[in-house]
Amino acid sequence: MSRQSTERVVEVVLPGVVEPDGLVLRHRDRPVPARGQALVRVEASGVSFAEQQMRRAKYYDQPAFPFVPGYDLVGTVAEVGPDVDATLVGRRCAALTKVGGWASHALVDAADLVPVPDGVDPADAETFVVNGLTAWQMLHGIAEVCPGQTVLVHGANGGVGSTLVQLARLAGARVIGTASPRHHDAVRDLGATPVDYRSPDLAAEVRALAPNGVDAVFDHVGGPGIVDSYRLLAPRGTLVAYGTASTRDQRGSSRLPVLKLFARLLWWNALPNGRTTRFFNIWAGRRNAARFRARLTRDLGAVFALLADGSLRPQVAARVPLERVADAVRLAESGTVTGKVVLVAS
Ligand SMILES: NC(=O)c1ccc[n+]([C@@H]2O[C@H](COP(=O)([O-])OP(=O)(O)OC[C@H]3O[C@@H](n4cnc5c(N)ncnc54)[C@H](OP(=O)(O)O)[C@@H]3O)[C@@H](O)[C@H]2O)c1
Repeated sequence: MSRQSTERVVEVVLPGVVEPDGLVLRHRDRPVPARGQALVRVEASGVSFAEQQMRRAKYYDQPAFPFVPGYDLVGTVAEVGPDVDATLVGRRCAALTKVGGWASHALVDAADLVPVPDGVDPADAETFVVNGLTAWQMLHGIAEVCPGQTVLVHGANGGVGSTLVQLARLAGARVIGTASPRHHDAVRDLGATPVDYRSPDLAAEVRALAPNGVDAVFDHVGGPGIVDSYRLLAPRGTLVAYGTASTRDQRGSSRLPVLKLFARLLWWNALPNGRTTRFFNIWAGRRNAARFRARLTRDLGAVFALLADGSLRPQVAARVPLERVADAVRLAESGTVTGKVVLVAS
């Protein structure tokens, strides 16, 4: 059921390669949902590492500038277009958007909405949308982590990393987590043994904790350090690579570091030593939209259920009003936070 409104909405525009202060607040008429769409009043949207890369034009397949960033959102359906179940209006839902979430309102395909359990705070839920899906699918869909195994999580204080630590602990695994020393107490509090990721003896420190190697490594860092991640694997271990964070500030192509990583993983997989390497891409399989959505709904539903029953602790680093987006980006990039900086409706 469509409802006309003259209300103005606000969105954050990334105009090009800019410092956080270069983000632009744009006001426009409230959009009207087309067939199959819902207009969501956004209550929370996250600042992910992807936006750090996008504002440097370093994200693998970002759209052309200018665009509205925002990889995921949680909000309440304000209006729906033709052919959409009208009872969705008023429901709190989450969506994985890649772009568009940093706004007071966002148009989303209604089929992409995942219900948020009643009583769950929108910012809390937001911390588990892209982070929860990524962590869940890598842990259970690829590495198939089992009770009694030991896993290594890089960036264990980050959005994905802190979620991986919690989900791996819930799966019964022992977790070693790399992080800066300032985050070690927080990593310990999540149930992992912290190791300094800048230590020149990182590999030796991990080996001292896991002399037979680790059953899985989750590596978003890429670059030369990926070699240690591979070498730390136990004989039948799995390396899940899912990013190239170490190349964020390097000049040049946004694609080359990822392509180099693919080549290395392919080479390792050809070696007959029982180890497996995989690159995780949250958008893989998107061409089969029905199957992709079914998997996303199932996996995010599983994560939200753990949040609702208290098994997962949301790591909200800060709640920052949308209008103060530059502060939010600076904070997310400061290296001082545990968990996720969340933009909230003012
Ligand atoms: N492939 C996929 O489908 C997919 C999906 C989602 C996310 N990702 C990737 O997942 C990663 C984490 O995303 P996020 O949103 O969780 O980020 P985040 O919250 O900003 O956390 C980033 C983490 O990485 C650490 N870090 C930053 N630069 C590093 C470096 N050069 N070497 C080692 N560690 C470094 C940070 O440590 P400090 O706090 O000490 O700086 C922090 O622990 C990103 O690389 C992102 O691209 C991939």
